[in-house]
Amino acid sequence: MALLLDTRLLLRKVKDLRCFIPRRNRVKEKWAVTRTKHPPTSLALQHFDAIYSNQLGPQWPSVRAALLSERKYGALLNNFSHDPVLTELEDLGCRDFLTDTDTEVSAAQPDMEQESEVAGVEDASGISKKSGIDGQQLSPLHLSPHIKCLVFPRGDITRFKPARPDVCGLLGYYLMDAASLLPCLALGVQEGHNVLDLCAAPGGKTLALLQTESIAYLCVNDASVSRTMRLRKVLTSYFPKLLLADEKLRITSFDGTKWGEIERNTFDRVLVDVPCTTDRHSLMEDDNNIFSKIRTGERRRLPQLQLELLMAGIEAACPSGEILYSTCTLSHIQNQSVVEQAIVLARENHGIQVQVVDLRPLTHMFRKTFHFAADLHLGEMVVPHMAANFGPIYMCKLRRLT
Ligand SMILES: C[S@@+](CC[C@H](N)C(=O)[O-])C[C@H]1O[C@@H](n2cnc3c(N)ncnc32)[C@H](O)[C@@H]1O
Repeated sequence: MALLLDTRLLLRKVKDLRCFIPRRNRVKEKWAVTRTKHPPTSLALQHFDAIYSNQLGPQWPSVRAALLSERKYGALLNNFSHDPVLTELEDLGCRDFLTDTDTEVSAAQPDMEQESEVAGVEDASGISKKSGIDGQQLSPLHLSPHIKCLVFPRGDITRFKPARPDVCGLLGYYLMDAASLLPCLALGVQEGHNVLDLCAAPGGKTLALLQTESIAYLCVNDASVSRTMRLRKVLTSYFPKLLLADEKLRITSFDGTKWGEIERNTFDRVLVDVPCTTDRHSLMEDDNNIFSKIRTGERRRLPQLQLELLMAGIEAACPSGEILYSTCTLSHIQNQSVVEQAIVLARENHGIQVQVVDLRPLTHMFRKTFHFAADLHLGEMVVPHMAANFGPIYMCKLRRLT
């Protein structure tokens, strides 16, 4: 009870501190008579308090405080813009987190490769992070030199101004949680790859993938027609019309869970960025909130939908192709559990063997910018932190062996 009261007090305080909430995230208060007694944001906080205090233990209070505070953004540069955005942002004190990496990375990597030779401790499903280790797959060399994402330094909570259109009407940068870029980097797209972005709208990660300028064919899909329209709009604000009309880009609006029936064994890389409880959004905005009473069924079905989407992604990848599963929730049930089940189902129902790819070289490289969870048994996670308030972002990479 005391915790609930504390929670409400804190929520009220957070809402009073409107100056800390970006203008675009502010929601007009409802009249007292129509205001619901249990707004979805409070229900979300109650739910997270119950689940994450168990899952994260003593870390939860500080993660919770970060989640309830203003998030940090990154500015993903648009290489197709004609404006000198990079220097403008650097003059403001921003830095490209992809080049401002941890200098100890090369020294640390051999250790990780050595560890890869050690047999991992397996869980009940026979899956372990170490059993699937392949540290060499994600050396810094595989990161596209064309992706640039600027952030303000650790502890600096300056906001970015909205991007301006250049002479051709193209925007100079896209504002996103900088941690959302990590799944795109972890995907490790290389020259000539066929790529599927299975749940793509509103398109932040699609924009990043296209910035690599190395994809031979990109299929961008989202089940929601209205969100796919939004994605198209985003793409037209960032890319020249000619590039968008190219046959190398296909935009579809299919149910991703059925992808295996459309195309199997095809793509070199598949990004499966699934719908989830979007923890930060659920705590900050009552509109379109998955914790609203009428969406309870939808919320409870999320892990099953996530599993079906990941299975479809695994089937869509070619043998030796790689699949990146990502969410923006801290939930173990929506993260590691989904991956564990998918690995078993792929083997038992489809005869597909997948291996977990170790992403520690990547997290090690960017540990100056992001706060990563320590010792997840499967995958990696950016955990919100007051000094580096990005995430949550969970990612796990799988490689098809058959
Ligand atoms: C987390 S969002 C994706 C964000 C996107 N990757 C980005 O970076 O902007 C999840 C998306 O999955 C879509 N979705 C939900 N169910 C789906 C399904 N069955 N098949 C494909 N997409 C689905 C939702 O419409 C939503 O746009």
